[in-house]
Amino acid sequence: MTQSSEVLKSTIHPSILSADFTRLAEELARIQSADAVHVDVMDQHFVPNLTLGLPVVERLAAVSPLPLDVHLMIEDADTWAPRYAEAGAHSVTFHAEAAKAPLRLARELRKAGARSAMALKPTTDLRPFLPVLDELDMLLVMTVEPGFGGQPLIESVIPKIREAARAAEGRGIAVQVDGGVSAETIARLAEAGATSFVAGSAVYGADDPDSAVKELRSAANAARGGLA
Ligand code: DX5
Ligand code: ZN
Repeated sequence: MTQSSEVLKSTIHPSILSADFTRLAEELARIQSADAVHVDVMDQHFVPNLTLGLPVVERLAAVSPLPLDVHLMIEDADTWAPRYAEAGAHSVTFHAEAAKAPLRLARELRKAGARSAMALKPTTDLRPFLPVLDELDMLLVMTVEPGFGGQPLIESVIPKIREAARAAEGRGIAVQVDGGVSAETIARLAEAGATSFVAGSAVYGADDPDSAVKELRSAANAARGGLA
């Protein structure tokens, strides 16, 4: 059993992929209870979609009242990810499938002043990447194929969340899930061991995004046995 001092709190990270890109500063003001804002960077090569890049992340970091959780769905992560740390991201997540030297990259992100995080696509096995955990603050288990918001949760990924949670236990490493997180699915994800929850459509598709954040957090905490 994990010591209570080592238990990470449940964090809710709304994804601005589902926000109005023409009014980003106002959209940030609608999620004041969130723990961080999730920023999806897509390059139309690693994933089929294209979103935003360094100049926008730099401006968001300058004006955002919330820490930036930057999720890089880009090729050549070894070259580009440290630039996002330098741009002011609180945490930078690269994809294991897009990094040539993931351990070195995670170390570089920390050196550049960011929390380091690594993501796994739904079909990517965690085992070959276990040594990288020594340099990680967060492990992201994708619960949809990366690229688009509003997709249904891939239930078959749940055993990998359990595996990630076991590997992360007692090491201060958050286990994040991204894709299909909603009021209906969050309890199952939290029970499996996720501690950090990205939600795009479930937050920005709600009439009151801030209430949606609070509801998701209470549901996650309830499923984790009332943990803060
Ligand atoms: C998808 C992105 C997600 C996306 C999640 O590739 O990484 O962050 O915004 O959207 P929902 O929560 O709507 O599934
Ligand atoms: Zn994401």
